[in-house]
Amino acid sequence: MQPIIEFLIFGMKPAESIPLNKSGIFFLHIMGDGSIKVSIIGAGNVGATAAFILLQKRIADEIVMVDVSEAAIGKALDMMACAPLVPFDTTITGTTDYSGIRDSSVVLITAGLARMPGMSREDLLEKNRQIIASVSQKIREYASQSIVIVVTNPLDVMAYAAWKETGFPKSRVMGMAGVLDSARLRAFIAAELRVSPGSVKGMVLGSHGDTMVPLPELTTVNGKPITQLLSREKIDALIKRTQNAGGEIVNYLKTGSAYYSPAASAVAMIEAIAKDKKEILPCSVYAEGEYGLNGVFVGLPAVLGKKGIEKIAEIPLSPETKALLERSAKAALEGIKQLSC
Ligand code: 2OP
Repeated sequence: MQPIIEFLIFGMKPAESIPLNKSGIFFLHIMGDGSIKVSIIGAGNVGATAAFILLQKRIADEIVMVDVSEAAIGKALDMMACAPLVPFDTTITGTTDYSGIRDSSVVLITAGLARMPGMSREDLLEKNRQIIASVSQKIREYASQSIVIVVTNPLDVMAYAAWKETGFPKSRVMGMAGVLDSARLRAFIAAELRVSPGSVKGMVLGSHGDTMVPLPELTTVNGKPITQLLSREKIDALIKRTQNAGGEIVNYLKTGSAYYSPAASAVAMIEAIAKDKKEILPCSVYAEGEYGLNGVFVGLPAVLGKKGIEKIAEIPLSPETKALLERSAKAALEGIKQLSC
């Protein structure tokens, strides 16, 4: 009768759609009435893909996609029909009405213009700032207790804008980038060494841009540092490819930017929060003294759990890496200075 005890402890309503983890054991519901609602702003490639991965992983009880376009409704209906096949019990809806995000546990902001060939992430700054401002106002209005994850570029600057515009505590606003950059590096290393990508651990910190800071000394394959497995030249080439990975994809897609891996990265963050995993993931967070950085959103190792960013982990960094991190934070700060909020 374990589930009933949990109802009593957490004051849960015995909901119809209680998600089970892989072993069939109830995992704890952590928000509001006990159910987990994820709202996704923007039902474009990143938003819709994130919704679909969330459904497949059965992380939320309810998912709402909001978009100015009715495509959000169509995509949600399309996904809903997958329920008996995947299968999942999650409710998925699409809407053009922001009140649909009411009482969300987590809001994922994917809305905004995407990069086109020849554009840097920074080129998107002004247009996307306006979008973030209006979305943040709606989040404040309808989902004032939510945890906000920003995917819109230029990432660190838009995370800062969302933090300012929502007025939420810094623990409840973060940007998705380090998980993606780290995943790219890990995937490239795995392909190079022909090992399972899951056996490669590593972290990329700093701003989501050309100044991102991979940590080769802390990147391992089955526990072995890559510095013992690959030449310096090879590691440098893989790092360079990681730094340019977003642009490499834009050049092939021509009409937009990457979405499978950004969506999967955002879902990893949502999962850590929804399951209260206390997992250390590199996220764009507001620094107030950590790593000697101040007043800037930048990628740092964050402990994610049900309260959002529960802590910024202090990992010992070499003086060279620290200098690179400071340079990267400076680049993010330049963008923030261009904001009028
Ligand atoms: C990327 O790196 C879209 O910024 C995102 O692909």
